[in-house]
Amino acid sequence: MKSVRQLSCRVIWNHRFFDIVNNMILPIYTFGQPVLRAVAEDITPDYPNLKELVKNMYDTMHHAEGIGLAAPQIGLAIRVVVVDLDVISEDLPEYKGFLRTYINGHIIEEGEETDVMDEGCLSLPGIHESVRRATKIHVQYLDEDMNPHDEWVEGYLARVIQHEFDHLEGHVFVDHVGPLRKKMIKSKLINMMKGNFRCAYKVKVNIK
Ligand code: NI
Repeated sequence: MKSVRQLSCRVIWNHRFFDIVNNMILPIYTFGQPVLRAVAEDITPDYPNLKELVKNMYDTMHHAEGIGLAAPQIGLAIRVVVVDLDVISEDLPEYKGFLRTYINGHIIEEGEETDVMDEGCLSLPGIHESVRRATKIHVQYLDEDMNPHDEWVEGYLARVIQHEFDHLEGHVFVDHVGPLRKKMIKSKLINMMKGNFRCAYKVKVNIK
């Protein structure tokens, strides 16, 4: 997930330093790439080079100034997600030091209450739309060391998880946008599929 507009300026400065270090920055697959429409699969603990993959995902997310990244966004249809909310902890102090890896994550249940917030996505650069989501969700996942977790999550993290786990089901946030707004962003989406957009990070564009 791309950090929301009003937070993004501060995020940029926090992460310029990461680029200097020798990190593996992977290209981010953008809207139109088939892998973003695939249902991602659970992985087994012996998945090859998992630690390295997770590190590369953090590096890639930080380089692109994102707060969440799902494996399909780097071309892998597997259930691996990384989240860094520390970068927004100046605005939301409860997330100070919050970095978490979600492996084989699934949303088991959603609370009834919903709210609406602006979202953006590293796979859809330049697009921000309001999305209605549950404020509370019940999730199950494994952490980086393959320890199981079963918890109810709320607040901003619940929104980020729903956005990222959507990627694991082959959905992107604009799927939730109403018909009128969708009509208004249609030409942007078509241009994106053709590779006609500007973006500050490395991407992999669907060229047909
Ligand atoms: Ni996204």
